[in-house]
Amino acid sequence: MAVMTSHVIAPTATLRAGFVGGGFMAAVHSRGARAAGAGLAGAASSSPRSARSAADRLGLDTAFDSVDALIADADIDVIHICTPNTTHASIARAALEAGKHVICEKPLATTSADAAALVELAAERGLVAAVPFVYRFHPMAREARARVARGESGRLLSVHGAYLQDWLSDRHDDDWRVDVALGGPSRAFADIGSHLVDLAEFVSGDRIVRLNASTRTVYEKRSTNADIATEDLVAVVIELASGAVGTLLVSQVAPGHKNGLSVELSGTDASIRFEQEHPEQLWIGRTDASSIVERDPARLAPDAARLAIVPAGHPMGYQDAFNAFIADAYAAIGGASPEGLPNFDDGLRAVRVTEAVLASAASGTWQEVAA
Ligand SMILES: NC(=O)c1ccc[n+]([C@@H]2O[C@H](COP(=O)([O-])OP(=O)(O)OC[C@H]3O[C@@H](n4cnc5c(N)ncnc54)[C@H](O)[C@@H]3O)[C@@H](O)[C@H]2O)c1
Repeated sequence: MAVMTSHVIAPTATLRAGFVGGGFMAAVHSRGARAAGAGLAGAASSSPRSARSAADRLGLDTAFDSVDALIADADIDVIHICTPNTTHASIARAALEAGKHVICEKPLATTSADAAALVELAAERGLVAAVPFVYRFHPMAREARARVARGESGRLLSVHGAYLQDWLSDRHDDDWRVDVALGGPSRAFADIGSHLVDLAEFVSGDRIVRLNASTRTVYEKRSTNADIATEDLVAVVIELASGAVGTLLVSQVAPGHKNGLSVELSGTDASIRFEQEHPEQLWIGRTDASSIVERDPARLAPDAARLAIVPAGHPMGYQDAFNAFIADAYAAIGGASPEGLPNFDDGLRAVRVTEAVLASAASGTWQEVAA
């Protein structure tokens, strides 16, 4: 029988974790795995040399010569997929078919058909299959969710979300994400809009049912990529299942914004706002007087307090949230049912919203989002 966790727990048996990719996220995942008490079995990357470099930098046991060799290793229980977007689906499929639990980066896949097939395969095999929608693991995001769920904001009227970055603001800035062959057909929305959709739906408990989107590609040529077809920014009008409406602005060309993810819900009684660059606080807006709620574990909802690993006034951040995600995913492998663990269903959901965004932008019409 599934067991509910009341706090972030490490699994009872030591898991062995393997990592595919050796960049930014492989480092973040491996820190989380180490914190959760896993054995760090090794990495495979784009080449044996890249795997060696990752293993040395991250303190992993083995540098595998290929992704297939890592997947075939009988001592590995869970595989973390931290590679460019278009490689996720085939690596996740191979890992699940080999009987491994999988933690696959977002976007889970670059088509909803691929993502749906992975959801089905993971369910058939009875394996844990998680996607790092990590912003769910900030205690104050959980606190916002708990306050909405207990009716503090009243009936939901509107959602106002943004995810703004500036690292592609200059026409010379470049990255593999810009290239459809590696990043997939959507860039800004698949890359960061997926987090925004997940967080807005997670905190509100509501679902986007229809949307109308406009995209812009500001630079069709960057330092190495030319004929760029992926979007730099997206503006979306949304309608939710409850009847609430909202807007989402997603941009990687917004100067001064480093990782500006924010979600604000306004209900009949109060507004609640979470900003990931200020994750220790919530803003509660009311017509008579507004207030700031600080992360103080003694005063938070139980699901927020369980993620608050240090007392109030001792700031927590992105890696702490990531460590909590990995700990919960490993707890699920151990048979627990941690609250709010984002799984492949959630990964599929974000891909479906992304497809609706691209379809709307291309046709200039409202699009229904597949349930
Ligand atoms: N959840 C989050 O908060 C978050 C944050 C950033 C990135 N991401 C996601 O993580 C993934 C990786 O992003 P990153 O920033 O680490 O990229 P990165 O460029 O830093 O690293 C990618 C790594 O994958 C390796 N690689 C490339 N092709 C490969 C292949 N075919 N097989 C094996 N290895 C291959 C590269 O050598 C490199 O080491 C992306 O899908 C991205 O969307 C998630």
